[in-house]
Amino acid sequence: MSSILCIGAGYVGGPTMAVIAKNCPQHRVVVVDANAERIAAWNSARLPIYEPGLDQVIAQARGRNLFFRTDTEAQIAAADIIFVSVNTPTKTFGEGAGRAANLQYWERAARQILEHSRTPKIVVEKSTLPVRTAEAMERILNSQPGRGVHFDVISNPEFLAEGSAIHDLEHPDRVLIGGKSTPSGRAAVEQIVAIYESWVPRERIITTNLWSGELAKLAANAFLAQRISSINAISALCERTGADITEVAHAIGTDSRIGPRFLRASVGFGGSCFRKDILNLVYLCEHHGLPEVAAYWEQVVLMNEYQQRRFGSVMLEAMFNTVAGKRIALFGAAFKANTGDTRESPALNVCRELLDERAELVITDPYALDNARADLGAAAERVEFEPDPYKAAQGAHAIAILTEWQQFAELDYEAIYRDMVKPAFIFDGRNILDHAQLHRLGFNVYAIGKPPLAHFD
Ligand code: NAD
Ligand code: UGA
Repeated sequence: MSSILCIGAGYVGGPTMAVIAKNCPQHRVVVVDANAERIAAWNSARLPIYEPGLDQVIAQARGRNLFFRTDTEAQIAAADIIFVSVNTPTKTFGEGAGRAANLQYWERAARQILEHSRTPKIVVEKSTLPVRTAEAMERILNSQPGRGVHFDVISNPEFLAEGSAIHDLEHPDRVLIGGKSTPSGRAAVEQIVAIYESWVPRERIITTNLWSGELAKLAANAFLAQRISSINAISALCERTGADITEVAHAIGTDSRIGPRFLRASVGFGGSCFRKDILNLVYLCEHHGLPEVAAYWEQVVLMNEYQQRRFGSVMLEAMFNTVAGKRIALFGAAFKANTGDTRESPALNVCRELLDERAELVITDPYALDNARADLGAAAERVEFEPDPYKAAQGAHAIAILTEWQQFAELDYEAIYRDMVKPAFIFDGRNILDHAQLHRLGFNVYAIGKPPLAHFD
């Protein structure tokens, strides 16, 4: 039996530790966070994040061998294994601002571990970090050799996607564990392998050296985002030529060397990590004197920004080059379906763009309205938040589909059309609607990567 601690009870720390606790009843798992409100929510009936299946896993393990606490110092002292799952956002100040990772939360956690440890610990990097951060972690942890406490640092990046986190954790494609090849480093790797082996087949657990572990995480996100930017780049050409992005993506994705996933053209990728991790990769390449490699990856982010701007421009142009004073209903605020998370959501970027054009906006979303209001800050005062999509669309000139919620595909668009200002427009940023049917109902339909279906030239 081990005592496992996780510092950081966010989108990763909470679900990851819940699944470890569920599958390893022999271990005691504690999750701490500096944010007491968040911990209180983890201990309540209303969890701080929306994630399908999470409620059930928490119900099984919480109070049995899973505990959410705020007494970080005492929990550090009691732990054998400490996962560090704190946020690593993009730096907004000083050197590397806008690119490099802000490591202040990570370093604070490292120093807390050093200060409150009296027994040997395995420290596991769960956060996504720049390559060679483990080296800095070791330097901090071993900065007081007189204390006689030994630390092993392991890289165990997380690959879960929000909205499918529980499934991804229960049935991962792989678990990656990077460590040192010293005897104690190898023993530490084996201890972490043993945790995952409780439910993950051994052949899916990959062990590497520390730097490969750290870099593989950044590279995996860069590759995934690159596929989206690639298909989105082709979507722009589709709109100019009459080709249809769904047909093109299907034709590309049936090549078994390419595969069909992550080829859905969209209003752009969002989420807290793709942009941040690619910019971090770009910064690392620049730092290591590789400007061509940096420029190559930066283009994935630039293409994503272009796609979001382009979507707003298509709306403006279709609506006779002015949306000032027009009510527009934005369907979706979350960065993807099945999450309430709005971090880096393309929906909010489109929202800001339309506010600049002085549109009157109403946003509807089944789970993300509170986060949207908080993320929009002062701009939220100029936006209406309406949980009912039918009410949101009432009296609107246009609807923009910005999140691929299944609910939005199942609405009665005939009824919605009736209550809209004519000519009525619909802009499908996720290609989830039946465009021919909407056109028959009277809508002017503009979808990503498809020829427009308008009732006028
Ligand atoms: P998050 O912001 O939701 O959670 C981080 C938590 O850490 C916050 O609640 C914060 O209060 C807490 N924290 C920070 N410093 C602390 C300290 N010293 N002591 C105690 N608590 C502290 O972030 P997240 O989305 O869970 O991401 C965490 C890391 O995992 C990031 O590095 C991210 O890149 C990576 N990651 C995220 C996802 C995802 O889907 N969100 C997936 C894979 C990897
Ligand atoms: C992503 C990765 O998929 C995870 O493996 C990784 O662990 C995580 O980032 C992370 O490091 O944070 P996540 O951002 O939660 O997970 O969700 P994705 O399913 O990857 O979607 C990201 C964005 O891309 C969303 O806005 C989504 O709508 C968009 N997307 C995705 C597309 O536009 N088209 C697609 O074909 C797929």
